[in-house]
Amino acid sequence: MSKQPNSLFPRECTFTENNWTVLSKFWHVVAFSSEVGDAPVSVRLLDVPLVLFRGGDGTATAAHDVCPHRGSLLSQGDVIEGALTCPYHGFRYAGSGQCIHVPSNPPGAKIPERLHLNLINVREHGNLIWVCLDGDGIVPLPDWPELTDESLQNYHLPGIDASTSATRFCENFNDVAHFAFVHAGTFGGGCREVVEDHAVTKTESGLHHSLVIEQIDRVTLDGDEEQTTAAHYSYDFTFPFANKMHIRFDEERSQHIFAAVTPVSSSQCRVHMQFARNYDLDQPIKESLEFERSVAAEDLEVIEKVSPAESPLDLSEEFHVAADRWSVAFRRSWKTFGLAQ
Ligand code: FES
Ligand SMILES: [Fe+2]
Repeated sequence: MSKQPNSLFPRECTFTENNWTVLSKFWHVVAFSSEVGDAPVSVRLLDVPLVLFRGGDGTATAAHDVCPHRGSLLSQGDVIEGALTCPYHGFRYAGSGQCIHVPSNPPGAKIPERLHLNLINVREHGNLIWVCLDGDGIVPLPDWPELTDESLQNYHLPGIDASTSATRFCENFNDVAHFAFVHAGTFGGGCREVVEDHAVTKTESGLHHSLVIEQIDRVTLDGDEEQTTAAHYSYDFTFPFANKMHIRFDEERSQHIFAAVTPVSSSQCRVHMQFARNYDLDQPIKESLEFERSVAAEDLEVIEKVSPAESPLDLSEEFHVAADRWSVAFRRSWKTFGLAQ
């Protein structure tokens, strides 16, 4: 059910109106499904404040976080019997968005149909809540079947707030030339720095590349620092900001890493990282999460200081080498979608 898209264009927007309009037509992740329980949840997407809640049947609803009565912040309210209840005058809104109770009205008074939340299209997929501010998404959601594959062990980090753009985050996720430097403390130290020649191909919904990289063969912080392996990396990216990599450490062990990135503003993003591994199925995930948290912290230490925060789309503004094929293809694609500097 889409509603008046341009009524959502934020008064204080860090994107140009052109870029906001382009991005508003994609599906974006805004939360883990598990984060939306009995209480309303406040999220921000493309500078737009949104409220998420579950209606009576447990289905997720997303709406502009502004009460249609007097503009209060709905996410400060409660969910009562599956209805979002405004903190100001207690109006209640069902999962359909319709106002179903006005406490100040005498019993039996009719509630106008127009008294309705400004709903946003929402879907739940891959343990995540996805929304599209304008329409039904110009690129389909990524498939990601490994997240529901019961033969794999699934785990995830809590959402990570990062002071950089979603574009810079994705470029880092799909870059391997930084491993030897940024990840010297976890899996990249002392490894071969040269990146093998590889192609980046366009897929129906994104970009694909794969290559072999020598790295330290450990997935916990207390793992052996001397043992190295030629890891096979395969990346599948879906526009706008849904990243997946598959790492095959050897014939038996492989891991999938998913990073769905919310563009909170033009210089802030929130990262939803999930993992699925086919090894150590009976082992606790605590050490693995510790390791992944350390890897993410190594990345943030560098990329939060990259400037400008938004990836320049004009290729002449930064220098590109052979290992940058992915980010060059990414920036070119964005221009095709209509993003402009
Ligand atoms: S502002 Fe929400 S009920 Fe009045
Ligand atoms: Fe990294």
